[in-house]
Formats: sequence, structure tokens, C-alpha cells
Amino acid sequence: MQVRLDSRKQLLFIALTCATLLSLVYISFNSPRLIMRAAKDKPEFKWRKSYIITKYENWFNDSAVTDQQTKTSWGAPIMWEGTFDPLERDEFYIQKKVVIGLTVFAIGRYIDRYLKDFLVSAEQHFMKGLQVIYYVMVDNVSKAPELQMSPGRTMNVIKVPKQSRWQDISMMRMQQINDLIQDKIRFEVTYLFCFDVDQVFVGRFGAEALADSVAQIHSAFLTASRNQFTYERNPNSAAYIAPEEGDFYYHAAVFGGTPYLVFNLTRNCLDGIIRDKSKGIEAVWHDESHLNRYFLDHKPAKLLSPEYCWDRRPAKYIRYVRMKWMPKDYKKLRDN
Ligand SMILES: *[C@@H]1O[C@H](CO)[C@@H](O)[C@H](O)[C@H]1NC(C)=O
Ligand SMILES: *[C@@H]1O[C@H](CO)[C@@H](O)[C@H](O)[C@H]1NC(C)=O
Ligand SMILES: *[C@@H]1O[C@H](CO)[C@@H](O)[C@H](O)[C@H]1NC(C)=O
Repeated sequence: MQVRLDSRKQLLFIALTCATLLSLVYISFNSPRLIMRAAKDKPEFKWRKSYIITKYENWFNDSAVTDQQTKTSWGAPIMWEGTFDPLERDEFYIQKKVVIGLTVFAIGRYIDRYLKDFLVSAEQHFMKGLQVIYYVMVDNVSKAPELQMSPGRTMNVIKVPKQSRWQDISMMRMQQINDLIQDKIRFEVTYLFCFDVDQVFVGRFGAEALADSVAQIHSAFLTASRNQFTYERNPNSAAYIAPEEGDFYYHAAVFGGTPYLVFNLTRNCLDGIIRDKSKGIEAVWHDESHLNRYFLDHKPAKLLSPEYCWDRRPAKYIRYVRMKWMPKDYKKLRDN
């Protein structure tokens, strides 16, 4: 059937087509840029995807584990095996079509020693069945391993500058993640996780770990009392935490959340590191000290129990290990 348009409609049609073409040409030459306010601490820009709010009461069973704390004082769930139904959690997030980003850093000898095992094990256990984008940051791109990814999973290899001191590498990580979220990650993922490379996945690390902001309880401090936490105690440091303050000791080997909240975290940590440097201070545990300060002020929405980052010692309250540290050959791997 032929559709006949009268001349007024034809004109309108031609005008609309021209307008569309012109806007396409305009957009292709002036791609939407980040609009940032000058105020340094308050970056304001639009994010591609909105938050997914979930009421955890529906899926989280805080009485399923009785020998461990399963909720924080501010009501955030602490994830332990048994407190959730893995199939239900996967199904929930698969239906939401979430895309999960993973950043990992490997500099110098850490590439050869750890990166391949980390990535191979992530393919087996990290967010299995979900869409994942890896952002692998290395100082020598030609040394990044070539891996066969499962469908729906892709890997980006990104070159970052070499630093010689490992303390600088760990602090630079905050800057690199921050920049990458701003330039790329925020357009591509719903949730982001940032990992240290010297660990391997050995069990399910799945959708139950997703939340707007996620912190990892440090396995060495789960049973420690607050005065044993290795927070920064110099009041002149931006990472300072007073003796009577603090909730948990968090591990910088794992943190995550929405791109916006991870961005806020890395930016706040970075600001603290820079302020300290200008005073000639370096916090006792570097970026981790600043991360602990950040999570004290901005309570995480979800905490991961040490099942999610275990240091290999057997312990009766660890019934399921999801990720474990690799042996840390610091003498061989670090230049200083
Ligand atoms: C929570 O877990 C406990 C212990 O496994 C079980 O008895 C209880 O029925 C569970 N509650 C819900 C709402 O599933
Ligand atoms: C990067 O790695 C390749 C392969 O191992 C090596 O030949 C090259 O020298 C390295 N480049 C630098 C700048 O270290
Ligand atoms: C982001 O960081 C700023 C500065 O610390 C803070 O005021 C703000 O509450 C943070 N935003 C969120 C959503 O956490």
C-alpha cells in the first residue's frame, strides 16, 4: 500500500528530517561532555543509570547466622553464607540487566605473579552469569594475559604510569579509578567493584554482594576490639580517627558500589592523600587509612564478611571461602 501525503505534510516531514539530521551532525561533533562545577568537592554530573533500590528485608535473613553479627548498628546487612538465596539474588539482578564493572591493578612484577590467576578465577566465580566488564590497569600492556571470556563479559586493558614505591602505587590507584569512572566506567556499568590483584576467587562471589556502597571487613580485625584497629592516629592527617571512633576495620583490597559512590569515595580518599602529602604526612596504611576514614563518615550500605576476602587461616566461623589472599612475596615483588 502506498501512503500519500498532502503537500503540507510532505513539507513538515522534510523539515523534521532535516532537523533530525542537523542535530545528529551537531551531536557527533559536540559529544556530550562532563559538566563539572568548579567547586572541587562537589562534582555534579549526570549518570547513565539510576540506582536500584532494594529493600533487603525481602531477601536478607539476618537470623540465619547466629554466631556472627549480621547487621550493623545503622542497619546495613553483613553478608555471610546462609543469609541469602544465591539463585534468587542472581535472578533479581539478571532481570534488572545490571552490568558490573571490576577494576584491578597490576604494576611491575605483580602482573606476572598474580594477574592471570586473578582473572581466570574471576571468570569462574565472580558474578557468574551476569554481565561483567573488566578494567585491568597495568603499566605494561603487552604483558596482560589474553583470556577467553564467557559470553557477556569483556576485558579492557588500560595503561597506567609506573610508580616505583608500592605505597605510591596503592595511592595512585585511587586517582586512576577516579579518572576512569569519570571518563568511561560511569557510562558503562551499574555497579563497580575494585580489587587488589594478589588474591584469587575460590567460591561464589555473586550478586548478593551488590549494593550502592560496599565495604569489606578486614579478616585480621573481625574479632579485634576497636582499640586494636590500625587506623591513622595522627590528628594532623586527613585519615585521622579518634580512639573512641570507628565501626569496623575495612580492607582496601575490596570495595564497591554504584559508579557515583565509588567516585565519591576515591575522590575523598585522593583529596585526603593530597592534603596529607602537602603536610609531609603519609597515613599508616596509605589509601586504606583514608578509606576507613571515608566509610566512617559515609556508612556503607552493605558489608562483606571475611568470607569474601580471607587470609587462609582456618577459622570455625568461616564456613565458606569466596576469595583468598595469595602468598605475599613482598621481598621479591616490591622494589623497596
Ligand atoms: C531464616 O533462617 C533461619 C535459620 O536457617 C530459618 O529458621 C528461618 O525460617 C529463616 N527465615 C526466613 C524468613 O526465611
Ligand atoms: C613490556 O613487556 C614486554 C614483554 O614482557 C617486554 O618485552 C618489554 O620490555 C616491556 N616493556 C617495558 C617498558 O617494560
Ligand atoms: C560525597 O562526598 C562529599 C564530601 O565528603 C560528601 O559531602 C557527600 O555527602 C558525599 N556524597 C555521597 C552521596 O555520599
